[in-house]
Amino acid sequence: MKVVILNNAAEVAQYGATLFSKQINRKPNSVLGLATGSTPVAMYKQLIDFYKHNQVSFRNIKSFNLDEYLGVSGDHQQSYRHFMNEQLFNHVDINKANTFVPVGDAKNPIEACEVYEQNIKSSGGIDVQLLGIGRNGHIGFNEPSSSLGSRTRVKTLTQETIDDNARFFSADEFQPHLSITMGIGTILEAKQVVLLATGENKAQAIVDTVQGPITAQCPASALQLHPDAVIIIDEAAASLLENQEFFRHIERENQKLEQSLGL
Ligand code: F6R
Repeated sequence: MKVVILNNAAEVAQYGATLFSKQINRKPNSVLGLATGSTPVAMYKQLIDFYKHNQVSFRNIKSFNLDEYLGVSGDHQQSYRHFMNEQLFNHVDINKANTFVPVGDAKNPIEACEVYEQNIKSSGGIDVQLLGIGRNGHIGFNEPSSSLGSRTRVKTLTQETIDDNARFFSADEFQPHLSITMGIGTILEAKQVVLLATGENKAQAIVDTVQGPITAQCPASALQLHPDAVIIIDEAAASLLENQEFFRHIERENQKLEQSLGL
């Protein structure tokens, strides 16, 4: 697990966007796994900026989002499909037909989950999967107690997650309590996994992810098993971690190595 500790949220966004644009430039037909929530918004803004300055093109990219609310159609303002269109897809040259978000209003959600899995597989698998993290250690909507081998399926949200996400809904608006999410097993199959976290309220979840036992009580701790997981965090999210100086040292050495190799 590579842990990159940066000074602030802006640097996290910049680092994440640089990593994704390098991936795309190395492999223009990359398959990206994408996330919603507040954390990746600044990274998407930075990617849009790279696109506008001709530093990256999404023309041949395919993407799969982690999750969607169950019972919500893609044209609903609160859908994650709408979020992705607004925050990224509408502003870059991606072909929307190649962007996939679980179908929240599928007639048969169980079948839709299987189709989603097959679609990821037939696309050659995800090259790099972006993740945020919940305060309770969830990734996607895999809440604590999710099977570490789980696949895309319907999941019930915890009250904590519902409360955390209430900020996106107005008082009289229906807030879904169910979702479709890629499973932890699905996420672990991505060739690389990149988790972004900022702010003090993520600090304990980051400790549990990086230092804690691998346990379904902290779904993100499963990333310890991934051969190429990168955790990019600001000082506040890193504040409870042991070995902060060691992680900073490793990153300085990695940067030197990458520069000498011209990567
Ligand atoms: C979003 C997702 C969630 C969020 C997590 C953190 O697609 O899968 O796991 O990444 O809830 O959300 P924010 O970034 O809003 O703190």
